[in-house]
Amino acid sequence: MSELVTPQGFPPATGPLVDRFERSKHKLRLSLTDRCNFRCHYCMPEDPEWLPREQLLSFEEFERVSRVFITRLGIDRIRLTGGEPLMRRGVSGFVGQLNGLRELGLERISMTSNGVPLRRHAADLAAAGLDDINISIDSIDPERFRRMTGGGELDTVLAGIRAARNAGLGMKLNAVVIRGDNEDDIVPLTEWAMGEGVPLRFIEFMPLDARGGWQPQRVVPEREIIDRLAERHSVEATPRTREPATYYRVDGAYSLGVISTVSNPFCATCDRVRVTATGEIYPCLFSPMNTDLKTPLRDGASDDDLEHVIRGAVWRKGKGFAESAGYVQRAITMHGLGG
Ligand code: 5AD
Ligand code: SF4
Repeated sequence: MSELVTPQGFPPATGPLVDRFERSKHKLRLSLTDRCNFRCHYCMPEDPEWLPREQLLSFEEFERVSRVFITRLGIDRIRLTGGEPLMRRGVSGFVGQLNGLRELGLERISMTSNGVPLRRHAADLAAAGLDDINISIDSIDPERFRRMTGGGELDTVLAGIRAARNAGLGMKLNAVVIRGDNEDDIVPLTEWAMGEGVPLRFIEFMPLDARGGWQPQRVVPEREIIDRLAERHSVEATPRTREPATYYRVDGAYSLGVISTVSNPFCATCDRVRVTATGEIYPCLFSPMNTDLKTPLRDGASDDDLEHVIRGAVWRKGKGFAESAGYVQRAITMHGLGG
């Protein structure tokens, strides 16, 4: 624990945003809301209590934070997450605000969504400047899908996927694999995604769920995911890059990713930092602590002050999952932190 919370030395006052393990950050994730229309058991509590609205950062505050990250700290990619980011009103407008930051160095604006709201919003988001979207789809079987998402309708997600495609958004699909829930989906989901020509990534179940249902036995490790696919298809590993996913060539053409946070963590090259809907900096999904950015923001902090707070928070970042390897005690779970 002390290793995690004891800062060692001081962060550099200028230059790239780095932590004490010499990892530099260039991706920022903004969680716009903790709300969601789904209740995926691996993420949401059964009866979530939503954060009061006044505690959320306004879009103006998010824009200010983004500007500081881009102009002073070398962030060039922003991903909007939730909960379900599109549960918040006015997200397209906010994407438009971010789009205005491209001339300052922002290169990519992305979003992670459960797909349902895209039927209504995909065209507006694309027009506002969103580049790409990751859509979660854990099963291609309607009943299993319903069970995993706490009542979600698969058709509404499929409609969202079509809307995103029609709007010209880049797209990837994400599926969390959980033993006893959807390991039988590995082959059909891959075959379906191949047929649609959409990249798919399987994600190992991480101990971040609000309900405490994670157990090591419920993780379907990368090796097993690939072995199952290899029973039906040719599967060939490609060299690992800085990306969190390891990619495999399926049947010589299709590229399939596996994000193996549990069996093969990518923490050593982690280049991201997170800001929650309430303006806390989480340098890592597995951080037991966070740093309050909202109070300085609302107390009139200068950009210099904000930069200082952010540099300090990132500097204290721990090694990551490899270090904790289990549940981490903290004040927030996945739905407030946003994948
Ligand atoms: N383990 C792995 N992935 C998770 N996600 C949410 N909770 C977990 C968990 N406990 C994923 C969602 C989505 C992204 C936001 O994070 O499936 O793709
Ligand atoms: Fe909602 Fe995504 Fe969490 Fe599912 S994983 S409850 S869709 S935020």
